[in-house]
Amino acid sequence: MNHGNTAASLREALGCPIHNKVLHRDVGRGELDYEIYVRTQELLALQPDADELVVPDELLFVVMHQTQELWLKCAAFEAANAVEHLDNDQVFPALAALDRVVQIVQILRDQIRVLQTLSPSRFQVIRRSIGNGSGLESPGYNQILAAADAAGRALGHLIERRGTTLLDVYQNPDGHADLHRLGERFIDWDSTFQTWLVEHFMLVRRTMGIDKSVRALDGFPTVALGGRMTKPLFAELWNVRVEMTQSWSREGGYAPGAPRGAVCPYSAGLRAEA
Ligand code: HEM
Repeated sequence: MNHGNTAASLREALGCPIHNKVLHRDVGRGELDYEIYVRTQELLALQPDADELVVPDELLFVVMHQTQELWLKCAAFEAANAVEHLDNDQVFPALAALDRVVQIVQILRDQIRVLQTLSPSRFQVIRRSIGNGSGLESPGYNQILAAADAAGRALGHLIERRGTTLLDVYQNPDGHADLHRLGERFIDWDSTFQTWLVEHFMLVRRTMGIDKSVRALDGFPTVALGGRMTKPLFAELWNVRVEMTQSWSREGGYAPGAPRGAVCPYSAGLRAEA
């Protein structure tokens, strides 16, 4: 059996319409309702053909960037919906939109790991053909930053309209249950976004290297990514933790090993507040 021909004929078959036995139709001509709605003809023509790839891994490289752009676009769109709901004091719909943003950013973080399978040598070849392209030029990345900025402001305005402060919300979460839940959902968004950039950093490290001497095609030193990846989207939400810890006091706790009363000091405090 000639295995070389098998792979070659499979590749050829994958490039042609495929007969689906259940549908009794050929799939892949762009004529079926699914293909028309999803615009598969245009979508699947957006990647280089197999014979145009500089290395076989280039298909993954292109698909990864394209799909990350789509998810970033989708996350920014949902974030704008969240802003609208926050501006209209609709907390539950805002939370639903934020849930979706968080799930999408989780996908970005998990998906980018597939590029860990790209060897440095293959990446060096791909790199020759991407001009001076930089991640900073990603439309989706810029959209999500703009959306996060607006969402952070919308949350701040809602807290103001409620006549309270972020610090008070966090010090008294039971008294501001919905605002506190919103704040924590923003934190989920931010921390997942940062872990996406941490995954990206590890990817840069394993493909190009992180060093002062290693520069992106636009001259940006890869070492600078280290500080940027944990730059928060919602700084105030992180700072409130710092403020709380700064004003923390040991008073009211048990000494290690000391006998504990029937009522813990924390719940006693809650009962007194109620
Ligand atoms: C092997 C794959 C990758 C390598 C080697 C790589 C390399 C780099 C480098 C060197 C930078 C520094 C800034 C610059 O480019 O000017 C950068 C930034 C960036 N890259 Fe990538 N990248 C890869 C994949 C991706 C993917 C799949 C995305 C998804 C959209 C992405 C998005 C970004 C973003 C948003 C930045 C700016 C980050 C910041 O300023 O903190 N990169 N990348």
